[in-house]
Amino acid sequence: MKMSALWRSDPEVARIIQAELERERSKIELIASENFPSLAVLEAAGSVLTNKYAEGYPGRRYYGGCECVDLAEELAVRRACELFGAEHANVQPHSGVQANTTVYFAMLKPGDAILGMDMSHGGHLSHGSPVSMSGSYFRAFHYGVNRETERIDYGEVAELARRCRPRLIIAGGSAYPRDIDFSAFRSIADEVGAYLMVDMAHFAGLVAGGVHGDPVPHAHFVTSTTHKTMRGPRGGMILCKGEFAQRIDHALFPGIQGGPLMHIIAAKAVALKEASEESFRDYARRIVSNARALAAALRERGFRLVSGGTDTHLLLIDLRPQGITGKQAQSALDEVGITANKNEIPFDDRPPAIASGLRLGTPAVTTRGMGEEEMVSIAGFIADTLENIGDDGVKKRVGRQVQELLRSFPLYPEL
Ligand SMILES: Cc1ncc(COP(=O)(O)O)c(C=O)c1O
Repeated sequence: MKMSALWRSDPEVARIIQAELERERSKIELIASENFPSLAVLEAAGSVLTNKYAEGYPGRRYYGGCECVDLAEELAVRRACELFGAEHANVQPHSGVQANTTVYFAMLKPGDAILGMDMSHGGHLSHGSPVSMSGSYFRAFHYGVNRETERIDYGEVAELARRCRPRLIIAGGSAYPRDIDFSAFRSIADEVGAYLMVDMAHFAGLVAGGVHGDPVPHAHFVTSTTHKTMRGPRGGMILCKGEFAQRIDHALFPGIQGGPLMHIIAAKAVALKEASEESFRDYARRIVSNARALAAALRERGFRLVSGGTDTHLLLIDLRPQGITGKQAQSALDEVGITANKNEIPFDDRPPAIASGLRLGTPAVTTRGMGEEEMVSIAGFIADTLENIGDDGVKKRVGRQVQELLRSFPLYPEL
C-alpha cells in the first residue's frame, strides 16, 4: 500500500488499514449494504478538503476561504438533482440516519405520529424503532409484510394510516427484497394528509441505474446513503421538492449538524458523476441479475427465500428449515471467507442477536466483476457450508474454493 507518510509516522494505524485491505481482498463480501468505491472516490475522500470548515451553504458560509469547497458542494448538488431528477438536494448529511433525522426535525413536532416499516419485517432503526430518537421523540406506528406473501400489503398500510393518522409515512428499508409501490404509498399519504418520505438508502444505485422504481416523482422527501449500491463515500443525502428546500437545509444546519465534511461531499460528487455514466447502468443491471441468479441457485439447493426471491440487490434466507440460526450461519460463513449478516425474518420468534435469517447482497461482488456463473458457485459454497456446519473438512475445502474464486477478481490491485 502506497502510504509512506502514514507508515513512517504511525505504523500501528498503517498496519490496521493494510490488514483491512487484505481482509476485503480475501473475503467474498455479501453484506447488502457494503461496496467498494472507486479509487477516484477514495482519493477525494482522503483529500485536503477535510481541512476546511464550511458551516452554512455555498455562498452563505460562516467562514472565509470557502471558494473551492463551494464549487465542490455546488457540483455535488447539481449532479444529485440531475441524476435523480430532483428539484432540490442537500448533500451535507454525515450519514443516512442524519438525513432521516433532518426530515423529522424539519417537518415534525415531538409527539407527532409517524408510520414506518417494522424493523423485523425489513425496516430500519431510524424509522421509528423505540431505541432510536425516531421512536422516542415521535409516536411511531409500524406496518409489516403480509404473513402469506411476505410482501407489503398496501391495503393494510392504508388501514393503519387511517387509524393512526401519521404526519409522515416512511417507505423503504434495510432488508425488504421486493419492489415498493411508491405511487400506492403516495395515495395513502394523500388520503390521510401525511407527507411521504422514501428512504432509498439501500436501492439508490438501482434507481440511478434505471433498474428500480423511482421514488422521486412520488415522495415529498427522498433520503439516501451515498455508499451501499451508490458505491460512493459513506454519507447521506436528501432530495426534496423545491417548496421544502429552505426548511430542509435549515433543519440540517444549524439544526442537527455542524460543519459539513467537505472531503466527503467532494467524494459524493465523484460518485454521483460515476452513477450518471452508461457503465453504471450496466453495473446496476448486473447487481440485480446477480441477485436473481444467487437466489435461483440457493433455491435449487433447497433454501427458502423470504417472499420467494428478489427484485433488488438483496435476498433474505429463512434458515429455519435447515435447523440453524442466523448467528450460526454468519459465523460458519465467516470461517470459510464469506461475509454476510444474520437478520431477522418477518414474524421471527428469535431475538435479533440470534435471528432466523441471513441477509445477502450482490453490490460488492458485482463491483469485483463477478457474474451469474460466480453466483452459482457462491450459492454452492454457502450451501455446502451450512449443510455441514460442524464439518471442518468441508469448511477447509470451501475456504480453498473461495480463495481460488477471488484470485480471478482482484480488488484494488493499484493499492
Ligand atoms: C434504509 C436505511 N436507512 C438508513 C440507514 C442508515 O445509514 P447510516 O448508517 O449511514 O446512518 C441504513 C443503513 O443501513 C438503511 O439501511
